[in-house]
Amino acid sequence: MLLGVNIDHIAVLREARRINDPDPLDAVSIAVAQGADQITIHLREDRRHINDYDVERIIKHSKVPVNVECAVDPDIIELLGELKPNRVTFVPEKREEVTTEGGLNFDDANYANLDKATHYLKAREIETSFFIDPTKEAIRASCGIGVSWVELHTGSYANIFAMLYSNLRFTPHSIKDLDVERSRLQKMLKKSIDDIKTAATEAQEYGLKVAAGHGLNYQNVSEICKIEYIEELNIGQSIIARSVFSGFENAVRDMVKLVK
Ligand code: PXP
Repeated sequence: MLLGVNIDHIAVLREARRINDPDPLDAVSIAVAQGADQITIHLREDRRHINDYDVERIIKHSKVPVNVECAVDPDIIELLGELKPNRVTFVPEKREEVTTEGGLNFDDANYANLDKATHYLKAREIETSFFIDPTKEAIRASCGIGVSWVELHTGSYANIFAMLYSNLRFTPHSIKDLDVERSRLQKMLKKSIDDIKTAATEAQEYGLKVAAGHGLNYQNVSEICKIEYIEELNIGQSIIARSVFSGFENAVRDMVKLVK
């Protein structure tokens, strides 16, 4: 299993002061030295954390492949066509969201935009991926467009896991829709894992490479690691959160141990 370390939250900390510290580029060599297989960054339309300058420097200096997540935004796609990261992962993006909510939708307008953007990048020899919910429809649409990877959204699994096995439900950030009996949550957790398994198998049958990510942490990652056909995980928030107390180097190393 490969690990992509998402370093957006280093830029989040920097942007809290709008200065140049901490520098996400410094995280790249540390993550790689500890066994990260890929660096993942999200260039958002509002540039709320990672900016164009980060993307340019990280692509230039990273010794492992760089995966840039972005919305289907013509200016960003053109920029990435020039900067040439190893992979571009298209994600849905809403200005007001705290983090990526749900996978891409494939309604007619979006399908056409994704199709155009994917072919634009493929023509420039950049690998493409879609961040999708683990559903048949999303896998078929991804295959139809001809993307090479799909990244299965594990956010729903992670939320259920946290409501079952952590103190989240007692905090102000308890997830209201999941504030239900434990027995029901257990069934929901099983279904969320089964959905991811089925989607991974189906994607593989369609010839797609399969990644997964969102909300994965030191407690919940092992179940996802067991799923056949998932080749790569992209993990950010939990690694950066742990590094506040134990250092980035140790946090990456601990995750590498679990994932491999
Ligand atoms: N994969 C994708 C496509 C994402 O958008 C994100 C969040 O930026 C992640 C993985 C990582 O999620 P987390 O920070 O919760 O580990």
